Amino acid sequence: MYRTHTCGELRLSHIGQQVTLAGWVQRVRRMGGMIFVDLRDRFGITQLVFNQETNADLCAQANELGREFVIQVQAEVAERSNKNKHIPTGEIELLVSTMRVLNTSETPPFTIEDNTDGGDDLRMKYRYLDLRRNTVRENMILRHKVAFETRRYLDQMGFLEVETPILIASTPEGARDFVVPSRMNQGQFYALPQSPQLFKQLLMVSGFDKYFQIAKCFRDEDLRADRQPEFTQIDCEMSFVKQEDVLNLFEGMMKHLFRFVKNIDMTDAFPRMTWADAMKYYGSDKPDIRFDMQFVEIKELVSGKNFVVFDEADYVGAICASNCATYTRKQLDELTDFVKRPQIGAKGLVYIRCEADGTFKSSVDKFYTNDDLAKIATACKAEKGDLILILAGATEKTQKALCELRLEMGSRLGLRDKNVFAPLWVIDFPLFQWDEETQRFYAMHHPFTCPNEDDIALLDTNPGKVRATAYDMVINGVELGGGSIRIHESALQKKMFELLGFTPEQAEAQFGFLMSAFKYGAPPHGGLAFGLDRLVSLFAGLDSIRDCIAFPKNNSGRDVMIDAPSVIDNAQLDELGLRIELKKS
Ligand code: AMO
Repeated sequence: MYRTHTCGELRLSHIGQQVTLAGWVQRVRRMGGMIFVDLRDRFGITQLVFNQETNADLCAQANELGREFVIQVQAEVAERSNKNKHIPTGEIELLVSTMRVLNTSETPPFTIEDNTDGGDDLRMKYRYLDLRRNTVRENMILRHKVAFETRRYLDQMGFLEVETPILIASTPEGARDFVVPSRMNQGQFYALPQSPQLFKQLLMVSGFDKYFQIAKCFRDEDLRADRQPEFTQIDCEMSFVKQEDVLNLFEGMMKHLFRFVKNIDMTDAFPRMTWADAMKYYGSDKPDIRFDMQFVEIKELVSGKNFVVFDEADYVGAICASNCATYTRKQLDELTDFVKRPQIGAKGLVYIRCEADGTFKSSVDKFYTNDDLAKIATACKAEKGDLILILAGATEKTQKALCELRLEMGSRLGLRDKNVFAPLWVIDFPLFQWDEETQRFYAMHHPFTCPNEDDIALLDTNPGKVRATAYDMVINGVELGGGSIRIHESALQKKMFELLGFTPEQAEAQFGFLMSAFKYGAPPHGGLAFGLDRLVSLFAGLDSIRDCIAFPKNNSGRDVMIDAPSVIDNAQLDELGLRIELKKS
């Protein structure tokens, strides 16, 4: 037996017992005739004591130990005189009688501590060592708990977990596909699934009624903190449901996860907001509602006063930051620089300080009287001591910029506490998005999303106005999941493809199997998918989903540890019938 206990297990109640432990050497400290070793495993840290006086040979052996050596010790559990309140085993230590070095270790390239000296690249190259660090391991444990509790809840609700294929056919909608060449069908390619969408719908046709899968998905898109090329969805689909059934069941799942993973009871119903309101009041389809600071449209109030910027703008929007009238020139300049960054793209920022004496100071005093400013302040529900920030320009772009400014102010004012969770359903998304460049509609969610029953007539007259039965769950400004009620009749699905600009031949070639399945009694169905990585990072308070993925890719989509992607040799290419000729860029 390698061990009788783990390194996180021993307490005062074990005093006097002979135990065997195995683990990694975290740290060696020498003090006079004593050597103290912190022994670590997944479960914790236990202090080992080697005493020169009682066992000089053993002490000499311990003196040779280096960081990350793997050792096994036999020892007696003793009470510690100098107790460490910070760790659960801190009241005891082990008086070692024998030690065996199970393996040596080279000095690791960075310290395996919570606050390591290793930079990002180094940690990713040696990810197996990074995963030994407490903080990273904790994230993996949390991920396990989320996946486990998800399965428990969905199982209780009658869902079946079904695996769907990874090698599938490429479809043009959505993000770019990753493709895999086929050896047996030379010149042809599989695509890796962006999600199991079509398969889960087929499983509904098969009568599975409630399906879920913790599924790997692959999307060849530009990476961000909340995007990986290879990520995991909690993918779900249900038959004979309306939107309300889906929202209730998955609100229940989220509450279950908060309860059993985070120990937080969420008793209130999650608020619901239409997509139109989300855009109007927050400039985003994933508003962070931990704080208010809603947009106020003031175009009418500010027009006609000879201030060209406002007169010429399609949209003038304001937010009110409580108690910020004392912002200095420097702070206001910083905010102006912030909104002028290329990725935000505003031309400038107008402010109104609501002074304590009831007067106003603004960057546009030349154009607006105190009365004019007072009217704006009233519209913004601003009080004495508040600061009003205003952006103007093209509607969509300005709303986006104002959204960024709102989030920045929220962060500056400490209103985005990672321990506060503000969930929200965003509903009534538009069915289509018009693309100026290609002059065609795209499905806002995907082409299988059912239009809102009340808007079906608009499909022929004004498709842009049709609402979808699509919904997203948003928590703290993160889109955690989304889905829709699907079209289950071939005729409506056909019409949808038409509106999306597919010829009947294209629709048949790409989705023929779905259309044909729908001919055999497809039940009404709908579902959604959550991003497991995003959910875990939200629970863990992480800034990037990378930190809760065991072996993530870097921002260039590379796994620097195994050095992927990589070139393959000519023999492999020959087998595939391929020759590589790189296009000159
Ligand atoms: P959607 O494309 O909205 O829907 O994806 C669902 C959820 O998956 C997560 N997600 C990602 N997480 C990490 N990296 C990525 N690159 C990434 N892309 C998406 C998000 C998102 O909310 N088939 C539909 C769902 C349905 O209709 O049932 C779908 O895939 O958290």
